[in-house]
Amino acid sequence: MHKKFPNGFFWGAATASYQVEGGIENTDWAKAARENRVPPCGRACDHYHRYEEDFDIAKELGHTAHRFSLEWARIEPEEGKFDREAIEHYRKVISALRERNLEPIMTLWHFTQPLWFSESGGFERNDSPEIFARYAEFVTKELGHGVTHITTMNEPNVFATQGWINGEWPPFKVSSKPWQRSYTGQVIKKRSKISALKNYFLVMKNLADAHVLAYKVIKSTQSHTKVSIVKHIHVYLRPKGPLNKIRALFSNYLQNHRFTKRVYKYTDEIGVNYYQASQYGNDITDKKTDMGWNFTPEYIYDALVLMKKYKKPLFVSEAGLADHDDSDRAEYITKQVAATLQALEDGIDVRGHLYWSLLDNYEWALGFEKRFGLVEVNYETLERTIRPSAYVYKKIIEENSVVE
Ligand code: BGC
Repeated sequence: MHKKFPNGFFWGAATASYQVEGGIENTDWAKAARENRVPPCGRACDHYHRYEEDFDIAKELGHTAHRFSLEWARIEPEEGKFDREAIEHYRKVISALRERNLEPIMTLWHFTQPLWFSESGGFERNDSPEIFARYAEFVTKELGHGVTHITTMNEPNVFATQGWINGEWPPFKVSSKPWQRSYTGQVIKKRSKISALKNYFLVMKNLADAHVLAYKVIKSTQSHTKVSIVKHIHVYLRPKGPLNKIRALFSNYLQNHRFTKRVYKYTDEIGVNYYQASQYGNDITDKKTDMGWNFTPEYIYDALVLMKKYKKPLFVSEAGLADHDDSDRAEYITKQVAATLQALEDGIDVRGHLYWSLLDNYEWALGFEKRFGLVEVNYETLERTIRPSAYVYKKIIEENSVVE
């Protein structure tokens, strides 16, 4: 019999503005969609107009917290000009959460950038930390009193890796790795690859500075706010062979620790986004999610352990899977929650658990096909249907423990 989670442990799910709201046209992603480089997002789940209905569902499912993000491009559509209507909208969103006793966990920026910002260089700009901090300050002044938990940014490493190393997301700075050859066998122009890599490190530095500056302005505006960073944590299991060992050590440092080391002194909490574990040189599991990712919910334990050394309260800010027919989600959630409870029992300070995601949504460059939601969305009718696994999660929340 498992022990219980502590009283006040928060339970819920997460969403991100661009992935669910719909109707956002002034971002780098919307522009990339117009250029046919990524799928269009369109009205998505129309969550912008249906957030109350969606929060009713979260409440019905027993949730006590909800992580959502603000769309920076709505709030600051032109450089330095802030939009009143957008702020009023998010004020209503926060009130709607509070009315339902859902603790708002607010992310200031989740991947998509206002077009004026990305077009003028985005996080390659030397003044990008100041620009981001100005936005953070404005938002905190306007909305901060209604929110205790503010995350500055979501997964900085994933943002920079996808944009500057893999080249799959805006700004598509490189389309192949530096050591690859083109399809004609020519070595790809070294200079451009190296400069993309150089810019990756520049972007990572600016993101770290942006977080630290934002932390300072948020705290000086609202000292009671708990400011966090949300980090994607990939668990690299110890491989065989010296070369693979070096690769694993390097990847673990680059993806999990390098950024965290730079910013942890300026965080009150750390959000852990966990999706999978892997091992170089070995396919560790036959079972895969619909993303083709390893089905490894139990290794969330290791992800939490990896962040222990920063001595900050942790929360699971995202964890979940794409599973179109809901055949594996209940098992995944149960194992993931059991491993989180084990981490707590082993002395790791975990304060909450947010499943990704409340709703099916726009899965970035893969469009709408992948189904992460506790709630299924019919994109034709926008009808919401609660999946059976959501009730398994509800039972866990009600028991405040793992239900086998
Ligand atoms: C991101 C989400 C994304 C999820 C599944 C996380 O990296 O924060 O926006 O949908 O993973 O890929």
